Amino acid sequence: MSSCKEIVVTENAGILEISIRRPERKNALTHAMYTAINEAFEHAEATPSVRVVLITGTEDCFTSGNDMVDFLQSPPIGDDAPVMIFLGKLATFSKPLIAAVNGPAVGVGTTMLLHCDLVYLGESARLQMPFTSLGLCPEAGSSYLLPMLMGHQRAAELLMLGETIDARRACELGLANAVLADADYQAHARKQAARVVAQPAAAVRLTKQLMREPFMASLRGHMKTEGDAFGKRLVSPEAREAMQAFMEKRKPDFSKFD
Ligand code: COA
Repeated sequence: MSSCKEIVVTENAGILEISIRRPERKNALTHAMYTAINEAFEHAEATPSVRVVLITGTEDCFTSGNDMVDFLQSPPIGDDAPVMIFLGKLATFSKPLIAAVNGPAVGVGTTMLLHCDLVYLGESARLQMPFTSLGLCPEAGSSYLLPMLMGHQRAAELLMLGETIDARRACELGLANAVLADADYQAHARKQAARVVAQPAAAVRLTKQLMREPFMASLRGHMKTEGDAFGKRLVSPEAREAMQAFMEKRKPDFSKFD
């Protein structure tokens, strides 16, 4: 049940599981993959028997974030780009969202966790938001949600320096609920999802809505501001140099830019 073979969607006992499977590119997300995830979200929202959505990657990799080739060749600019639609759906999704994450979770791989209700990490999880190093700026509401979650200075270290943090540090900073053995994190997330399914669905949805309502209007406004800024940065010479350098496996040279 997916329009794209790299996004595997299964539905079982109230849990809709979205699995990102493009291991040869470290599960980097293309426009087509975002579109398939968006369709899965729409289906989950519209189907009463779906009580919770669980998003995961392959066992040793969550996602390396946006596909760099897509970023270079067809930058997702504008509100109708699949990634922008994805971020909007993520922020407003009415049912519980659970993430099971291991290995690299880069860029949107980390920022999407800020919109999940429960996050479980394998001990090899490595989270990173290298936006500034790529000449970009934060996205997915992360410049709003991260300082709110952990304070300005801790958020600045992650966002300005693009520091990679391990699973335990991510948990200490409030980004996740628990760290599990690599062999157990997906099973644990599924067990927790089954526990959520067993709760009264309307009460769970109302709880989620009430927890997010106090900041939802400002979050949406800020995500629009961030999205517009991100779109401009994507076509900036610094970002293009950084992404080109990644693809060519060399260090970027920012010396010619002011
Ligand atoms: N977009 C497109 N291709 C990507 C990619 C991405 N985001 N991330 C990895 N790949 C590709 C690599 O180019 C490489 O291709 P190759 O086999 O043709 O050389 C392949 O996937 C494997 O990646 P590699 O870097 O060799 O794996 P690694 O285990 O050494 O490192 C990461 C994994 C995720 C830490 C590293 O690939 C990385 O930093 N990726 C970029 C993450 C990023 O900046 N995302 C955008 C955020 S906005």
